[in-house]
Amino acid sequence: MTNPSHSATSGNSPKSSLELPGLLKAPSVQQGGRTLNRMYGEFAHLWDTISSPQEYAEESKHWRNVLRARLGPGRHPILELGVGGGHNLHHFANEFQTTAIDISERMLANSIRLNPGVEHLVGDMRTLRLGRTFKAVLVHDAINYMLTRDDLRAAIATARAHLDTGGVFIAAPDWFKETFPGTHMVYAIRKHVTPELTFIEHVSDPDPSDERLEWVFFYLFSEGGRVRVEEDHHVVGIYSRDTWAQLLREEGFSMETVQYPVHDTGQMVDLVVGTAL
Ligand SMILES: C[S@@+](CC[C@H](N)C(=O)[O-])C[C@H]1O[C@@H](n2cnc3c(N)ncnc32)[C@H](O)[C@@H]1O
Repeated sequence: MTNPSHSATSGNSPKSSLELPGLLKAPSVQQGGRTLNRMYGEFAHLWDTISSPQEYAEESKHWRNVLRARLGPGRHPILELGVGGGHNLHHFANEFQTTAIDISERMLANSIRLNPGVEHLVGDMRTLRLGRTFKAVLVHDAINYMLTRDDLRAAIATARAHLDTGGVFIAAPDWFKETFPGTHMVYAIRKHVTPELTFIEHVSDPDPSDERLEWVFFYLFSEGGRVRVEEDHHVVGIYSRDTWAQLLREEGFSMETVQYPVHDTGQMVDLVVGTAL
């Protein structure tokens, strides 16, 4: 999720990482009857600081390459679901006729500021139906928030509903079941902002037999000689390659994967590329 200054991995996650009593008590905001994680609600204004648009310059080239290889030249209509701050999209948005949606109005506001030429709408990627089609539908890391197979299937069905035959669906799950490296942690210190922010991200798989990961964030705000710590819990989905392939097939796509390095961590991620049948 971030472009980390530092990261650490510790093999397989110990069972003790199950001890996350704060999970159910984690503060959250409500919007449209749905609970959002703090990062995309009350802390949405920090998104630029946590993960700046410039950090996506390299990664976005791979997205652009896949789009151009599949669509050819031209200002084709494209749709991004779960656009967040629009940081990845920013690097190629203006080459296309771009529409973007997110479930969080506050995250969408970040993208509206960064990508003024893009059409922005509030929507849920599982249920959105705009009644028009695009040449490509993209879901960057927001696809991680599909917490069940039904959610993932619904997001894929949304993509299919917005594509004609031959249209392209591109998604970037951070991991497949087969590629999750075990518990790891990333941190970054941002000294140029007030209050100074240290951001810690901890990812673990408390129960490898299910299809979920725990993502815990700590925000340490340093100001006036004091450090304030805020905690944020996210649960995300993780699926095997076979599950992805099966759901894509059932929802009317063929599937291939394109490997690319995320940010400058060098972590290799598979872009899932579906072609609408
Ligand atoms: C990590 S952020 C995306 C950041 C984005 N890739 C960027 O470049 O700025 C994940 C986003 O997914 C959105 N999201 C989560 N569940 C969603 C859903 N069901 N429908 C639409 N957006 C969703 C969140 O609101 C959040 O803005």
